[in-house]
Amino acid sequence: MRMRATRKLCLIFGTALPLSLLCIHLLSKPDKVVDVWNRSALEGLLDNALLQPADKYTHIPLKWKDDVLQLLPKNSCKCEVEPTLDFPFRQELIGKPYAVNFASYVDPSVLEETYRRREKEYKKFKMRSYHPTDKLIIAKANSPLEYPVQGVEVRPMKTILIPGLSLQDNLRKVYQVSLLCTMGTFDVAAEVEGVTVKGAGEKHITLSSPHMDNLNRQLQFVSYTNTVFHPNTADTVQFQTVDHTAIFNIKIHHPTVPKMYNPGSSSSKYNISALVTIATKTFIRYDKLQDLIDSIRKYYPTVTIIIADDSETPQKVEGPFIEQYIMPFGKGWFAGRNLAISQVTTKYVLWVDDDFIFCTETKIEKLVDVLENTPLDLVGGAVREITGFKTTYRQKINVIPGGKDGDCLMTRLGYHHVIQGFPNCVVSDGVVNFFLARTEKLLQVGFDPRLSRIGHLEFFIDGLGKLHVGSCDDVIVDHASKIHLPWTKKEIDTKYEKFRYPDSSDSLDVRHNLFYFKNRFGCMTGN
Ligand SMILES: *[C@@H]1O[C@H](CO)[C@@H](O)[C@H](O)[C@H]1NC(C)=O
Ligand SMILES: *[C@@H]1O[C@H](CO)[C@@H](O)[C@H](O)[C@H]1NC(C)=O
Repeated sequence: MRMRATRKLCLIFGTALPLSLLCIHLLSKPDKVVDVWNRSALEGLLDNALLQPADKYTHIPLKWKDDVLQLLPKNSCKCEVEPTLDFPFRQELIGKPYAVNFASYVDPSVLEETYRRREKEYKKFKMRSYHPTDKLIIAKANSPLEYPVQGVEVRPMKTILIPGLSLQDNLRKVYQVSLLCTMGTFDVAAEVEGVTVKGAGEKHITLSSPHMDNLNRQLQFVSYTNTVFHPNTADTVQFQTVDHTAIFNIKIHHPTVPKMYNPGSSSSKYNISALVTIATKTFIRYDKLQDLIDSIRKYYPTVTIIIADDSETPQKVEGPFIEQYIMPFGKGWFAGRNLAISQVTTKYVLWVDDDFIFCTETKIEKLVDVLENTPLDLVGGAVREITGFKTTYRQKINVIPGGKDGDCLMTRLGYHHVIQGFPNCVVSDGVVNFFLARTEKLLQVGFDPRLSRIGHLEFFIDGLGKLHVGSCDDVIVDHASKIHLPWTKKEIDTKYEKFRYPDSSDSLDVRHNLFYFKNRFGCMTGN
């Protein structure tokens, strides 16, 4: 309102130069300062006592059910090695069960300070990620108020009519309701006869009338304007009449702008060259990489291959539809993955290791078919070792609340369920190093470049809740190495292994320190 008055004054006196300079100053002055961190304005109005069992029920006897109680979250997780099924070569094939405490990997002389810093960052993270619609709201019994429970949305700084407001009360002399919000203002788009409106254009509006029908007609024209710019939040509105309060949320957000990829024209079902880019990371193993490229070209002669390379003395890898990106020496595993996927311009990206070999069973079309026909974001295949053993590395990842020491990370081999229409495919949380993913979603999660040597599960942990992951065991790629017969081992393999799997526990330390600080995990168990 002050702005409008100022503008009028400026129009009247604006002809005089000194005054117009003053006007420019007044108009450009920000007229409002908003504390964007403070979202607790309605605290205290939401009655927590509602959650406590009322005293009047405590005398009624009950019997707890332990099996159900055990399933409930307790905020006090522990990591212990669990006994699992044993079978021949289990340890060689998939490793043995373990439990790790991450605090023991932090340098003891800085542990206390690191802990304090972690908790400070965590507090800020919680404030940033909090959304007002997460708040528990309980509707009290028998309210005469009708209101929208959910689904009301407004664009930042824009106006809407609030649908579904009305009062259904018993006979009264005067019918009165009020609306209260914190991030906007209310008004009426039309004035109904016999209704008194107080507080139009403000955070608190009151409507009253001796006739309930007139009041309800007026309620159809109540508008809400968002005035605090804070996209992707919500304004919690209190709708009140005598003795009754209802609370509902108006979501404030920009529309989701789509980011789509042109799938290309094709006579056959899928044009893989237009839909998929193959990405890999290499380090000195140029013979293996060339075998991979040759095998890809047998089946997919025109699909683009992106190579991230952090070798000390890089060799040029040339050929049609090949892009090689040279990185600083030893930048590492996840940094290379990150660079490679950042250069993809197709809808999907297929991740392969540089020592994989395509075969007749490496049907990218099958994986494309899954992503085209399900809401999955990433689908893994199977990697076949020279022993014939197929790895899908399907993992279930569970984060259990753990109080002030951090949460517990629990990984288990396994999956959640089979996908209808795709009998070879399941839904899981993590898969093997051979997967097709939506480029857009992969970029959103990214590969943390701090993980330079060892890292795989970390990506799926970062993607938990963001990526919808599946795994199909009928799309197979061969693994050229890993199990080396001593007489076939070349000098380059020894060099590679020395770099990739260093003797010192440095890289394990990095990994566990990241779990401790970045993910705020206290400990981890796996099988
Ligand atoms: C948040 O805002 C409320 C009401 O405006 C105020 O009482 C409270 O002190 C603020 N809290 C913080 C942390 O700034
Ligand atoms: C498939 O896509 C590629 C790359 O966009 C294009 O060059 C090629 O002509 C397409 N093939 C068919 C059969 O449409």
